[in-house]
Amino acid sequence: MSASPLFSSSTYWEGRYRAGGASGAGSLGRLARFKAGVLNRFVQDNHIGSVIDLGCGDGSQLALLDLPRDYVGVDVSPAALARCSARFPKRLFVPYGMIGCLPTAELTLSLDVIYHLVEDAVFTDTTRSLFALATRFVAIYASNGEADWPDPHVRHRNFTSYVAETQPDWRLLAHLPNPCPYDPNHPDDTSFADFYIYGRPSAACTLHVPVMD
Ligand SMILES: C[S@@+](CC[C@H](N)C(=O)[O-])C[C@H]1O[C@@H](n2cnc3c(N)ncnc32)[C@H](O)[C@@H]1O
Repeated sequence: MSASPLFSSSTYWEGRYRAGGASGAGSLGRLARFKAGVLNRFVQDNHIGSVIDLGCGDGSQLALLDLPRDYVGVDVSPAALARCSARFPKRLFVPYGMIGCLPTAELTLSLDVIYHLVEDAVFTDTTRSLFALATRFVAIYASNGEADWPDPHVRHRNFTSYVAETQPDWRLLAHLPNPCPYDPNHPDDTSFADFYIYGRPSAACTLHVPVMD
């Protein structure tokens, strides 16, 4: 399903953060702990030395992540970046428009972002950047499949097919389902997103599944 031509994802997120809103349910509670458990172990086991986080949000998820000093948080919302800079003064945060100035990183992250890239051009541009900026791994936490959704800021896509078509130098190394699949009766405590870890075809990768409380 195509998006409304009137909807702007960047305007939506800046307005949401400026109004005091947060990144969302996926950045809190057990959903955030699952994401952190997977990533912290992945970063440690694979000796990741640098990270670019594309769509870092308000910093709630970042607060749970043990990431190397060489970290850059990127977001389309200046209000979100201001919050992150205040909360993590030793880390670097840059607007999405400056992404062309960034050096590559061993790992790029896209956590609960892909299904918010409502406009086709934004989706293709952001996905291209996500892979172009990574030297070893790309970790995506997202839904994967077309589905109608009532919220205008959500657009589900079959992104793995798009990546397979457009990123021949990368291979899907692992699909790790989240242990709390989406339940419409508990939308704030469940998620339609899973982890998808990409690497170069020759990449060896260690991935542990955390035990959830
Ligand atoms: C649901 S929040 C997730 C935040 C964080 N990654 C997390 O897991 O908590 C989605 C974030 O993606 C950002 N975003 C949306 N479109 C973007 C784009 N084209 N480039 C960079 N960030 C974008 C939003 O501003 C928002 O902060």
